[in-house]
Order: sequence, then C-alpha cells, then structure tokens
Amino acid sequence: MTENRVVAITGASNGMGLEAATLFAARGWRVFAGARRVERIPQDNGIVALPLDVTDSASNSAFVEAILAATDGRIDVIINNAGYGEFGPAEEIPMAEVRRQFETNFFGAVELTQLVLPAMRKAAAGRIVNVSSIGGDIYMPLGAYYHATKAALQQWSDVLDVEVSSFGVRSVIVQPGGTESAWGEIAMANAEKNLREGSPYGPLVAKVKAALARQASSSSATSADLAQVFFRAATDPKPKSRYFNALGDRAVVKLARTTPGLLRVALSRILKV
Ligand SMILES: NC(=O)c1ccc[n+]([C@@H]2O[C@H](COP(=O)([O-])OP(=O)(O)OC[C@H]3O[C@@H](n4cnc5c(N)ncnc54)[C@H](OP(=O)(O)O)[C@@H]3O)[C@@H](O)[C@H]2O)c1
Repeated sequence: MTENRVVAITGASNGMGLEAATLFAARGWRVFAGARRVERIPQDNGIVALPLDVTDSASNSAFVEAILAATDGRIDVIINNAGYGEFGPAEEIPMAEVRRQFETNFFGAVELTQLVLPAMRKAAAGRIVNVSSIGGDIYMPLGAYYHATKAALQQWSDVLDVEVSSFGVRSVIVQPGGTESAWGEIAMANAEKNLREGSPYGPLVAKVKAALARQASSSSATSADLAQVFFRAATDPKPKSRYFNALGDRAVVKLARTTPGLLRVALSRILKV
C-alpha cells in the first residue's frame, strides 16, 4: 500500500530534493524531508520537514531517529540527494573546504545509510537512492573534488548493493545531467571564492564560468524532471544500478567509460586547456 510508504529525502529545501518531496507526497507517500534551511520545506500534504545538516553526525542521528519514532520503525526509501559543488582550482581550494565537500556529498550519504539499514534489513525491504551526477563519470576543470565525491558515491553504492541485496535492500544511483536549480550558481560562486590572491587560475575560472552559462541556457532538464527519475529509481520493481533523465546523459556516460581519453581531447578543444 503506497499510502503508508515512507521516504526520507535529504537536501529537500531546493531544487531536485524539494521537487521530489512534493512529488512523493502527491503520490501518497509519507515524506520526511531534511535540509539546513528547514523553513524552506513545505510542511503540508504529507511532508514532515526536519532540520538536517548531513555533515553533522548528531544531526544525521536525530533525523533518522525522528523518522523511526514517527513511523514505528519504518523507512522504505532514503534519497541521498544533498550536495553541492566546491569548485575551484585543485591546487588552491583550502583543505577544510575539500573535506566539507566530501562530508556533504559522500560521508553524509554513507552515515545516513548506515543509520537506516538496520530498519530496512529488519523489514527485509528497502531502497537507497544515491544522487550522483553524469559528473561521476565525466568531469570538467575546477570540479576535481566534486567529481571525486560523485565517483566515490557510485563505487560505494555498487559495493553496498552487492552486500545488502540478499536482505531485500537495493542501492541505486541517479545520474542527473545539467538541471535547473541553484547548483550552478553555488559552484561558480565557490570557484571565485576559492581563487587565491594573484592566482594563475583566474582565466580558467572565467572560461569554465562561460561554458557553464552556455550549458545552463541550453539545458532543458528541470528539477521536477529529476524528481520523476528519483521516483522511478525508488519504485522500480527491477532496480537498475544507474538511472538517467535523458538519453544524452546516458550516452555521454557510456562514451566516457568506454573511451576515457576522449573527454580530455574534447575539453582541450572547447576550453583551449
Ligand atoms: N543541478 C545540476 O545540474 C546537477 C547535476 C548533476 C547532479 N546534481 C546533484 O543533484 C543533487 C541536488 O542538487 P540540486 O541541483 O537540486 O541543487 P540545489 O538546488 O543547490 O539543492 C541542493 C540541496 O542540498 C542541500 N544541502 C546542501 N548542503 C547540505 C548539508 N550540509 N546538509 C543538508 N542538506 C544540504 C541544500 O539545502 P540547505 O542549503 O538548506 O541545507 C539544498 O536543498 C546534488 O547532489 C547535486 O550534486 C545536480
């Protein structure tokens, strides 16, 4: 009965997470939606908004405990969606920011998953939906640590899936391509913030910023489109290891995996780097 199904969604104050919270609630799910800006999450029609900072172990524990207390121990699906791009030159991003990138995009998902797995194993059912990116397989300059977190998330999800599938739990990956949200603005603001005084990487930041702006103006995917993909990944009776919104996203990932050198050549041509 979908009426009783329970989903936990991280990063639900904006973009894909917010759209997913609305979509699951509209389809009769009990939605527990977390973010730091909890006041931005709508508190109606089946959505319970909870404060959550995925970089904070106490916050992660409180989030999962609050859900288990409200649902008598049930969590059917967790969507590890919270994430951002700590863009900037690999040489110059302060280590504290490199660590924060991993704490948010990777370790947060890891810890929350450890916290929900006992309930899922007990129920002999559960789905862990991890929001990576096509950038888990392809990359662009200034995104070294972002791409590393998404590649890590994919490898981890695949290993986890093997370990938990015999308990009725599956771990899957969604790989969005460029999608309308606050992501691009935040990534580029970080790239500028992370430039050191007199940095030799200023021209590269300008080139990547222009390329991202061009891509944003040509991108047709919306956060609502990706929410549909999250729903598919969460409910597919035959779970797949990867879910994509567009054929082009799937194709570009396939090409990058089969011909790793090609992307380097393409970046040289496009960005003259
Ligand atoms: N948009 C794209 O083009 C694109 C492409 C590929 C992959 N993705 C991935 O898709 C996911 C969703 O991004 P989006 O595009 O929807 O971006 P967005 O509009 O910036 O939303 C990101 C969400 O993550 C939350 N978040 C960030 N840090 C957090 C933390 N420490 N604890 C809890 N929540 C946190 C934010 O909430 P608070 O700030 O309120 O905490 C916000 O709700 C991310 O993992 C992103 O890497 C995006």
